[in-house]
Parts: sequence; C-alpha cells; structure tokens
Amino acid sequence: MCGIVGYVGKQKAAPLILEGLKRLEYRGYDSAGVAIQQGGRFHVAKKTGRVANLEQEVAQQSFHGTFGIGHTRWATHGGVTDANAHPHLSSDGVIALIHNGVIENYAKLKRFLLEKGYSFRSETDTEVLCNLIAYHYAKEPIPPSGESRFVEAVRKALRHAEGTYGIVVMALDTPGELVTARKGSPLILGLGDGESLVASDVAAIVSRTQTVVYLKDGEIAHLTPSTFAITTQASDTVEPVIDKVTWSISDAELGQHAHFMEKEIFEQPVALENAMRGRFSEDGSTAQFGGLNISAAEFRTIERFMFCSCGTALHACMVTEHLIERFARVPVECDYASEFRYRNSPLHRNCLFFVMSQSGETIDTLAAMREAKRKGYRVLAVSNVVGSTIAREADGGIYQHAGPEVGVASTKAFTSQLLIGAMLALYIGRMRDMSFSDGAQYVAALKGAPDLVRRTLQQAPRVHEIARRFARYTDMLFLGRLSLYPIALEGALKLKEISYLHAEGYPAAEMKHGPIALVSERCPSVFFAIKGEMFNKVVSSMQEIKARQGPIIAIATEGAELPDGLADEVIPIPECHEAVLPIVATIPVQLLAYYMAVERGCDVDKPRNLAKSVTVE
Ligand code: AGP
Repeated sequence: MCGIVGYVGKQKAAPLILEGLKRLEYRGYDSAGVAIQQGGRFHVAKKTGRVANLEQEVAQQSFHGTFGIGHTRWATHGGVTDANAHPHLSSDGVIALIHNGVIENYAKLKRFLLEKGYSFRSETDTEVLCNLIAYHYAKEPIPPSGESRFVEAVRKALRHAEGTYGIVVMALDTPGELVTARKGSPLILGLGDGESLVASDVAAIVSRTQTVVYLKDGEIAHLTPSTFAITTQASDTVEPVIDKVTWSISDAELGQHAHFMEKEIFEQPVALENAMRGRFSEDGSTAQFGGLNISAAEFRTIERFMFCSCGTALHACMVTEHLIERFARVPVECDYASEFRYRNSPLHRNCLFFVMSQSGETIDTLAAMREAKRKGYRVLAVSNVVGSTIAREADGGIYQHAGPEVGVASTKAFTSQLLIGAMLALYIGRMRDMSFSDGAQYVAALKGAPDLVRRTLQQAPRVHEIARRFARYTDMLFLGRLSLYPIALEGALKLKEISYLHAEGYPAAEMKHGPIALVSERCPSVFFAIKGEMFNKVVSSMQEIKARQGPIIAIATEGAELPDGLADEVIPIPECHEAVLPIVATIPVQLLAYYMAVERGCDVDKPRNLAKSVTVE
C-alpha cells in the first residue's frame, strides 16, 4: 500500500527518489519522506500530504548525496503526522529504514528495546523494526571476510519480526550500501549502469532501468552501485533470475488525458486486443492459453471451480461464474478472498481454484490462494502484473497484458479480466458440450468486443451531461440482472470509490426486498435494460421505481423500446453476444463514475483513504 524507492549510484539521489515516489503515489499518499546519506550523517525530510509537499521541503535543503531511500505512506500504525512518516532513524542515529507492511509483535519488541535504552519518536511499528536492526547491528561481531555485518544484523532482526514487511535499510557507517528484504510485501531490484535501485513497484524505477530482479519472500538483498547479492533468511545464497520489463515509462504517463482513470478507460479497446492476442485456436472455435500448466485432459475432468478475489476483481470473478455455468455447465463458486482465507470452507475434491488480481499483490487474495494450495488444490491466477507474487506463486495462470494501471479505480484491468473470464468459459465449454459453430460464433463475438467498446466510448459526452445533472445527489442505486448484477456492483463501487457518493448495487428484482425504501426523487437508479428474456422484467422493476418518483438512468440496448417517459436519461449500448455484454455494459458506469467525480471536484486518481494495491490485511 505504501511505496518504496531506494537508490545507490553516482547521481544525486534525492531528485531520482522523488521522481520514483511520484510514480508510486497511487499506492498510498498520506505522507512521504526521504533520507539521504551525505557528509557522515542522514539528512531526512518528511511531510504529510502529497509528494509535492515533500519536494518543496527538499528544495529548501541541500541534499546532494548519491545514496538514499524514500517512501510514500498509507497509515496503518499511528496517525498521519510528519513524525510517523518514513524513513525512520534508530535512536542511536545509525540505521535509517523504510517499511511497507505491518510488524504484528511490535508492542513486545518495543518493550524489549525500551529496556535496552532505545527511544522512540513516533507511534509506528516501523520505528520499532528500525531500532531492532540498530540493536543487532551494535552487537553484531565483525563476520568472516566476504560476509557483511550489516546484512547479518538485518537478518537477525528479521528473525524476531512477526508480520509482513518490505524494507530498505541504510547504515551510517556503510555508505553506498542498501539492504532490502521482503516477506509479504513486493520489492523489485533495478540493475542500472553503475547504479542499483529497489522499489515496491516497477513504475518507480523503469525510467532508470528495465533490467530487474523480483525479490521473493524470505530473501534479503545487499546492493551497492555495481553489485547485488541475494541470500535467504537461512543465509543460503540465491541464484538470481534477471528479468526485462516489457513496458516503458511512457506507458505509465498521462499523455493528453486529465487523469489516469480517463486514460485507462479509453485504453480499453487496446487492452482487450492485447488480452486476446494469440489466444484463439487456429480453427477459430475456442480459446487457448499458454501458461495454465494443466493439460486439456486434466482440465476436462475438473468438476467444480472456485474463484476468490477482492473488490473489482471479485466482480470479474462473479461474471466469470455466470459465463462458465451458462456456457460450460460446470458449477462455480465465488468468494471474497478475505472471507475464504479464514472460513475453512470445504472445497469439492476435484475443484480447480482461481484467483484474479490486477496487482498480483493483494494480501487477502494471496492468503486465500496459499490456503487453497496448503490444502493441496491446484491454483491458477489471472493477473496483470508480470512477476507479481500471486503470478509467481500460482501453479499456472493467464497474464492480462493490459499495461500498467495507475488509476486507483480499476477500469481497463477489470474489462480485461471479464474478457479472460469469457475466454475461460469458452475454453471449458468447448471441452464439453459447446458445438463448433457455437464456439466459432463466440470467438467472432469476442474479437468484435474492442470495436463495440470503441463505439460505446463515443457516449462519453452524453454520459458527462448526465453526470452534470446528477452530481449533487448523494445516493444512487445500480440494478442489473444475471451477468449484469456484478456490473451493477461494479458501478456502485466505482462511484463510491472516486465520488464519495453512497451507492448500492443489487440484482434488479431484489430491489423490492429492501433497497426500494431508499427510492425518492433524490435517489436515482441506474438500470441495465438489455433486449432479451429479462427485458420486460427489468422494465417492470423500472416502473416500480418510477411510481415512487425515483429518477432513472437506463443503460439500454440500442433500439430497445422503453415505455415513454420511463427513463429520465438513456445511454445506448450496442447489441452484443452474452459473453461480451458485461464488458460493453461496464463502459457507461465507468464513465458515469469518472464524470461524477470530476463534477464533484474529487481527486479522481487518488481517492481519499484508498490505495491501489492492498498489501496489508
Ligand atoms: C478497484 O477499483 C479497487 N481499487 C479495488 O477494489 C481492487 O480491485 C481490489 O483491491 C483488488 O485489487 P487487485 O485486483 O490488485 O487484487
């Protein structure tokens, strides 16, 4: 949730670290700080609020050192204050530390350190870890040649730390060295020309280097400008796997867009094309995936699927559930990852476990997947971030190739998950009873999805007008049926996240069982009125709202005949195949949430209290 950047090299570290922090701001943004090692001491600046505040603070000081660490914070322990912002220094002034995660036994460790004479300036668990490293560093003997006293001290301190961490540490008497370690919080090493970097996210370092190493849980890395070495908690040497990042910094820049969310909404046709590329059979009747690591024969025998995720990704799972059951006739279950991990839910003995996660780092999703693996189930992951923890720990999976998603509100990653879910339903369906011609029709429909999305995006000015009309309302209902019920949930979530409006998503017919009490002329309802078997039923639900003076925004199939005056506003969407419908129907709700937030003057890309990837429980 917080962002981490560390640099050792020949350039001035502060501007590079600040640039990296700005690129990480979407992960957490209540405060930021930087520590630079120069002239035999640590120079530290910390500021609540955005990185821009920190930048002003740094500009007033003379930070010219070439080694340093920086952090953007999303508070867990202790309020949002300058003192609680990272980096933290040990009370003996020897260690500087930045930390993502939560040290669960910090209270006990703090009591121990207070007895040993260490003191504390903040309320954070991080400062406890910092002093713990200082304590071990002070008593660490000079090791045999070839080993680092600094690394050993960090290793020993971490043995006592319970919880999760991604840390970067500097020691005052080892200029030009960083020690970094992870357990449950992502860290990536960047290997540049005469410089080394470490960050919690590739976006922070990709402008300096595309050569990276993804650190694994339990690993500790020792960095200098020209070397790096990785060992485990048990002191074993790790042979590093060096990767190349496939995207460049321009992919994570705004271009002419006002916000990343707007940019990413309009990138959806291309993201969909990328998710499909090379993933249809030659005869054009089914999908194929390279990295599932499970043979078609084994897949064929699966009797049940379980999908676990969080937030928007869970909504994608719910649509996938609908499509697999509809087209492949295999039972599917969906659950919140955060609930599944503790529920000890009995799984079918022949169940294949799936997770979806844009970031690949969501801690609840990761924990759910580890729980399923512990029980002996095979786990597959759909993820957008190459090399992420979830992608690496899964037995196999599917990359989304949607490109970096920076906006906190997930948009292009969601529709690309919907598309992959639809392709999975096709793949499984064609192994069972779906005919060649139905498969071929399905494939043709999926291939047409990017153009249908392009067409729907043309409604943006119309949706903006509607948003202007409703921006000052405080409640909104989203009502859909079947595969559009999860899209109703998604519409409500998007609106809540970035406009701070109270919104609820419901199956349209369920509305009479409670939420209808909210309906008044001040509570608009967004309906999905789609031509087909449910159309008349949805129209009846709309009549019930209208009878109670509730304003109605209908997202309706082009040419659908709604009774005169029933909808106050209509957003037309093209007629499409059932597998594509959830994707196309998502576009208006994303646009609506976006323009509502703009009209309400909200900070679209950095909504209050949220972080892009939730790496603490
Ligand atoms: C989406 O708009 C949200 N920010 C959030 O619900 C998100 O989808 C959820 O935290 C899961 O993230 P993941 O896909 O990275 O696992």
